[in-house]
Formats: sequence, C-alpha cells, structure tokens
Amino acid sequence: MPQESLCSTATADSMPLLPSLSHTKLLHWKVRIFLQALLVFVKLRPNHAIVGISWSRGRARKCPQNSLWSATNYGQDIIVGVIDTGIWPESPGFDDSVFTPKPTRWKGTCVGVPCNKKLIGAQYFLRGNEAQRGPIKPPEQRSPRDVAGHGTHVASTAAGMPVSGANKDGQASGVAKGGAPLARLAIYKVIWNEVVVDADLLAAIDAALTDGVDVINLSLGKKISTAPYFAYLQDALSIGGFHAVQAGVPVIVAGGNEGPAGYTVVNIAPWVLTVAASTVDRYISSYVVLGDNQVFSGVSWSRSSLPANRSYPLVYAADISAVSNITAATLCLPGTLNLAKAQGKIVLCRSGQNDGDDKGETVRRAGGAGMIMENPKNLRSEAKSSLPATHVGSKAAEAIYDYIQRTQSPVVSLTLGRTQLGYKPAPVMGSFSSRGPNTITPDILKPDVTAPGVEILAAWTGLKGSQFEFESGTSMASPHVTGVAALLRSLYPRNARNAWSVAAITSAIMTTATIQDNEKSIIKDYNFRTATPFQFGNGHIVPNAAADPGLVYGAGAQDYAEFLCTTGYSSSTIQQVLGVAASCNTAIRRGCDLNRPSVAISNLRGQISVWRSVTFVGRSPATFQIYISEPPGVGVRANPSQLSFTSYGETAWFQLSFTVRQPSSDYSFGWFVWSDGIRQVRSSIAVQGISTASVAVE
Ligand SMILES: *[C@@H]1O[C@H](CO)[C@@H](O)[C@H](O)[C@H]1NC(C)=O
Ligand SMILES: *[C@@H]1O[C@H](CO)[C@@H](O)[C@H](O)[C@H]1NC(C)=O
Ligand SMILES: *[C@@H]1O[C@H](CO)[C@@H](O)[C@H](O)[C@H]1NC(C)=O
Repeated sequence: MPQESLCSTATADSMPLLPSLSHTKLLHWKVRIFLQALLVFVKLRPNHAIVGISWSRGRARKCPQNSLWSATNYGQDIIVGVIDTGIWPESPGFDDSVFTPKPTRWKGTCVGVPCNKKLIGAQYFLRGNEAQRGPIKPPEQRSPRDVAGHGTHVASTAAGMPVSGANKDGQASGVAKGGAPLARLAIYKVIWNEVVVDADLLAAIDAALTDGVDVINLSLGKKISTAPYFAYLQDALSIGGFHAVQAGVPVIVAGGNEGPAGYTVVNIAPWVLTVAASTVDRYISSYVVLGDNQVFSGVSWSRSSLPANRSYPLVYAADISAVSNITAATLCLPGTLNLAKAQGKIVLCRSGQNDGDDKGETVRRAGGAGMIMENPKNLRSEAKSSLPATHVGSKAAEAIYDYIQRTQSPVVSLTLGRTQLGYKPAPVMGSFSSRGPNTITPDILKPDVTAPGVEILAAWTGLKGSQFEFESGTSMASPHVTGVAALLRSLYPRNARNAWSVAAITSAIMTTATIQDNEKSIIKDYNFRTATPFQFGNGHIVPNAAADPGLVYGAGAQDYAEFLCTTGYSSSTIQQVLGVAASCNTAIRRGCDLNRPSVAISNLRGQISVWRSVTFVGRSPATFQIYISEPPGVGVRANPSQLSFTSYGETAWFQLSFTVRQPSSDYSFGWFVWSDGIRQVRSSIAVQGISTASVAVE
C-alpha cells in the first residue's frame, strides 16, 4: 500500500476562559474547585514551515512483512478518539466499505452527522461554551460537523483510509492515509469558533473513556506565557489525561507552536506524550529560466505560482529601493521597495535578517509579481510565502545578479512547482515547534518526541472545494503519533495477558525514536544548527521499531500521583482532585526520579544519582549493555552497566550518577542507550550543571 499522509499547524490567538461548571458529567471529576483557573487555549497558526512527509515516504513501496502495519492489520478494531473541531464525515478517508460491523464493546453514540462502520461515533460538547459565551454563532452548527477543517485533518492523519489521488493544487499527490487506517474513529467536538471551555473538554474526555476509545489525541494547548503557570492540577487537559491513563488510554498531545524560543512547550504533564513538529523529505522544485536561457534549479514553498512559461521583467531589489539604506532594500525588509518600480516584476532578494515569508510580503505589497530569493542554506521551514517565489542557492543568486547587471531588459520565468522526494536534510525541526525546558517541572524533559508536522497534506472540510489541505504545526505532528499509539494498543490490548500500560506504549515510542536525519547527522534546527532534546525530545518517531522496543520504562497512575508531591501538592489535594491516595512522605523527591524514558536535571550542584527501572518485553533471553554519550561538562556513570533478562515482564533497576565537571548555567545534552545488539533503547539527557561543589543534604 503506497501512501502519503499528512497533517497541519498550531497557533497563538488566545482568549481567557472562565470554565463553566454546568456540565453534569463533571461531577465525575472531583475537580470543580480547581476549574476556577483561567485557561487560555491556543488555536492553530498555519505559518512558518514547509514540506510534508508521511508514513512511508510516499513511494510505491510495499509494507514490509514485519512492519507495524502488517502486524496490527493497520490498527483494525482499535478505536481512536479525536477531541477537536469535529468531522467532515463525507471525506473519502472515512469510507467504510471494507469494514466489519463496529466492535461490540463500543458504547458511544452518533448524533447530527452520518456515521458508518469507520466513523463509529460523533458527539459534540458545547454546554460549557454556551454557558460562558452565549449561543454559538455561525458558521458553527449544533452538531459534530467540522467547519474549521482542523479536526478532519487530524482525524485523517491519525486514522484515515487510503485515498488515492490526494493532492492540493496538484502538489504532493499520492495516496493519503492515516497512521492506523483500519482503526475506527470516534469524534468529540469541543472547539467552537476556535474556543474550548474546560467543562466541555473534561466532559468529552469522560465520554470518550466511557464509550470505550483506546487512544485519545488532544489538539489543545494553553499559552504558556500566561503567568502564573498552570499547575498540573489546574489544567483540564492534564487532569483529563490522568484519568485516561488510569483507564489505560494513551493521550497524545501537541507541544505547541510558540517556538523557536525556549520554555514554550505546553501540555507537559509526565503522563501525556508531548509531540514536537519537524519537516519531511518532500519538497516542491521549480526552475528559474533567465532571458539568456540560463536555468537554475530551486525550491518553491509558495502557496501560489505564476502562469507557466510566462516571462516577467526581473529586477534586483537594491535597484528599486525606496529608502536610502540600500542594504535594507537588498534584504527586502518591509517597506524598502519602490511601488512604481516593483510593479509586475520579479524581484531578486538577498538572504538575511527577515525570513522568506516576510521578504515575499514586502515584494507583494510593492506590487511585485514574484520573488527569487537567495536562500543559501535552503531553510525550508523559514521559506514560505503567499507570493510566487523560488528559492535558490548563493551561487545561482550571484549568477542571476550578474545577468541583471549586464542585460538591458532582463526577463525571467519561474516554472511551476513539481513535487519531489528525497530532500536532504530531513527531518529538520520546525521553527514554530515549541521547546523545553519544561516550565513547571524542569526535571521532566519535554517535548517527548518529534513527528512530521510541516506542510502535511490531509483531509479538509468540503467547504472550499479541495478535499485536502496542507497544514503545519505540532497539531499535525501529534496525530502521527496517535496513529502509532493506536497500532501499539492493537498489538498489546488492554485486557490481554501481554497488556501494555500507557507508560509502556509511551516508552516504546520514545526509546525507539531516532536523533539522526537522512544525512546521518543529528537532527538539525531550522537554522541548521544541531537541534537538542529541548526541540526533539528523544528524537523522531520510528513506528516499526516501536513494536519491539526490547525494554520499557514503566510507571502507573500511583507513580504519577506521587510525582505531584514534588511539585508542591499535598497528599490531600492529590486525593481530592485525582481520587488517588498518594503518600507525599515517602514519595520521590525530584521530578528526575520519576521513571521516564528520558532524564532532565536542572540546577545540579556537584553530583546526583537517579534510579530507573526497565521491564523486558522481548520474547527470548537477552543481555543489554549500556552506552553513554556524556553531556559536555558532565560525567555520567551507570550501575550496573549490563542487564540480563530471561522472560517477558522481568524488571531490573539501574542507577545513573551525574557529576558536574565544568559548571555552566546552560543545559548540556547527551544520551544513553541500552542495546542487546539488535534493539536500541535510547534516552535523551539534559543537564544544567551549575556548580562542581555539592550542597549539604539536610
Ligand atoms: C491531536 O492532538 C494535537 C495536539 O494536541 C491536535 O492539534 C490535533 O488536532 C489532534 N489530532 C487528533 C487526531 O485528534
Ligand atoms: C512550457 O515550456 C516547456 C518547454 O519549453 C513545454 O514543454 C511546456 O509544454 C510549456 N508549458 C506550457 C503550459 O505552455
Ligand atoms: C541599513 O540596514 C541594515 C539592515 O537592516 C542595517 O544592518 C544597517 O545598520 C543599516 N544602516 C544604517 C546606516 O542605518
């Protein structure tokens, strides 16, 4: 089955919301008093970023025999819950012609839109919203129907059926399909005109768990910049997520689109899986053809293109400057170009200072027809524009410049873009993707993984003609991971003998992720610097490897509840909100002691040891050896350095000691990997070693 699947973008408009307490289902949640917290949700911003990949790189390649898809029969009979803007049920990705009747364990309902054996549930939750904001306004309808497109996009990315001939304006064409194409979908609409109210969100999670969904993907994030930070127990998403984990349902969330600044990652509770966004290896090529027949190949990330084979006058930006500072004009900084002189022309702009989108906007406002941009490093995620534009390297830009200088009436045409694969490097982190450190608990590393989230093609509402749309954002990345989690849940079902906990599923996805790109270097940032775990967590997901991780880092609701003691909650508060007894006297002392598949240590003085336990999930006896890549300036020792297992489910402990050698206020990064020669169980490390001297322990 060839395919090409795709996703979209996250955003930043925010509105303070006073949660309503009216929904009766909330009584379930013992959280009423905490809902006083003001919540600010971010919606999704389709900006920055560019090309999309897919589940199997789009080539007409057979699914390998032992792939996750084959092993799980494409996620058959897993129920994926999508809590979002609703659904466009007529989208061909939700066709049910090959499906068997819906699973008997399904207890949910379908209201207001046509459901089928693929789309088995659709409900909407707007009581909280209406109590707070009055009756919903058009174009929203009182039904689960998606009028925004976002929910349809994510649903098809997580679990859409293969649709051949998918494309957007002819680009990225191929077979669009979701991560778990044979999984069933249950839709819970909670976003109305871009606003979500806590009461509705909790009600939807509650309904999803009661209905019997196996995996939940949540597309909401709060704006972290709003101080004071939302503590874990004042956050509907983290509370709802905790209940889901108790029910054995993994919750996959987007890390937010507030990058590239640090301390911006959201949805950071240790029990949810937080996803960052990166590029895929697909790109759209375009040629620059000069009047003297010189041809240069480039890349086009524009939303529009010029008519084929039509020539336009070509000018160098500096030659049509509207300002005295010519340097500013060569860079096409806002307002630097002369309106009369740019009219109807293609403008050559230099790289630097502002991004391609901004330069394109300068040219567009000056009346230009298109842009050739010097883009020496091919910064994919920075180079998108609303105006037709082709990005070329510095040598080509120089030659084009020479042509302009020596020609009386220079002309140029830009060819229509053609979709190509194999772009290097990929993945590259999206500049918009939110980053760590974790603002609530710096000793929990977030985000957890990265996945395709730049220019992802997936289903859209039928409102605008096209059935598909490109979107960028961590919201587009997270459903890729939701698809994988659904497949793992299908391999290790909740009630089976070999059942995996939510932590095991999370761990498998995290420890099998890769930090290498397709040039065998460490994944890069959008500006071509080496990226860090604060951007990609444990790395880019590798779905097939996640099916056989070898070892998993386990943790349960009790561990998470006790972890909350480290953030200042008392036993009684934890009991009251989560309904779980946690003894804060005997609980772990620091977030880094929670048994997660990554390690972050802030403010380290001298030395610290953390414990981890791993559970063997292999079939035949195996011995694992640890390999450590120390963070610069920090020594790391493991004890023991070898672990042997004979049977499935065996657990072993190990200790990691971190010693500051060269103090720094910055974090430094490394990793460790347990390997039995076949499987690599990798964890990222982030340490801020501020002093070589230990502090006395009280
Ligand atoms: C998954 O979650 C992300 C962010 O948490 C969201 O943006 C996206 O819409 C969700 N997708 C699905 C399939 O629910
Ligand atoms: C553009 O020019 C190329 C090469 O000269 C030609 O093959 C192609 O058909 C032309 N396209 C259109 C739309 O005229
Ligand atoms: C001209 O613009 C460039 C680019 O913004 C800037 O770096 C430089 O300082 C400016 N020069 C003057 C004299 O303002």
